[in-house]
Amino acid sequence: MTSTPTMTSAPAVTGTPAVSGTPAGGPVLRGPVRGPFLAPGELAQAVTDFHLASSPARRWDVETAVDWAAADADRLTDGQRSAVRFVTLIEDHLPGYFAVYTRRFPLTADVDPAEFTHHRELYHFTVRWAVEEDSHARALFRYQTAAGIAEADALRHELALEGRKPFELPHDDAVSLFAYALVQEKATQLYYQQLRAVVGDPVLGRLLARLSRDEARHFTFMADVIERYLRTHGDAVVEPIREVIARFRMPLADTMRGYWRWALQIADTARYDHTDAYDHLIRIINRAVDARSDRVEELTRFVASCRSGATASA
Ligand SMILES: [Fe+2]
Ligand SMILES: [Fe+2]
Repeated sequence: MTSTPTMTSAPAVTGTPAVSGTPAGGPVLRGPVRGPFLAPGELAQAVTDFHLASSPARRWDVETAVDWAAADADRLTDGQRSAVRFVTLIEDHLPGYFAVYTRRFPLTADVDPAEFTHHRELYHFTVRWAVEEDSHARALFRYQTAAGIAEADALRHELALEGRKPFELPHDDAVSLFAYALVQEKATQLYYQQLRAVVGDPVLGRLLARLSRDEARHFTFMADVIERYLRTHGDAVVEPIREVIARFRMPLADTMRGYWRWALQIADTARYDHTDAYDHLIRIINRAVDARSDRVEELTRFVASCRSGATASA
């Protein structure tokens, strides 16, 4: 998912060791992130709460949760069809997003045992999250073909052209990756809610409601993690969080063909502004930190100033 595009220059990807080369113009793939990390027992509490929030009663599956026979793209405007195609491409990139977590929180023989225990706990979240995100990709694919937006093989081909491009985040601190996911999950949830409110096909509306509820749970996990980071590490994680906001781009903004034009179009269909998620980040910072240091104070001011429409001095 993306945002109302701001035409800033593409972030330069510099810094830590690349683990492998990528095709010309693609991002440099990076190696393991650095700490600080949460204590494994503390991360495990956040992971357990996430699993509790994903109880069987709240789960759904692509095959039975949606009345696919009733899906009808004739009830959608051109802009709404375009938005569905766009978010399908974003969700379908899951292998690339999942690879970030396996590459940057590795579970291999060369990882220090103390870090391994942290990464192993995180993996209990990551695999469940990936299953849910993959179901989003499958559901949107199914909607497109059932509703008459696309033919299956043509859509598979279209998705493959983008899906084979690598994905990376330009950050090297673990907490930065969590802060990025926090903003991206909330922005995606908000966009699905906005889109749901305007789409003409009720089948799509109900599907978007399910997706947005899942994204809300993903956001809640990341918010829990960031809150724990701020409580445990305080000022030490201010800069890595600030860096995320300073360079924020929604997934695929730098690699998808025609991204910015498309992002502008879909913002015409439903409100689409990733900086809406920044208020939620500020709330989490305020909740986590009782006595705010100057650095935390400065961070919340900075995040607020990055909101669309904020004045430079905000
Ligand atoms: Fe999703
Ligand atoms: Fe998500």
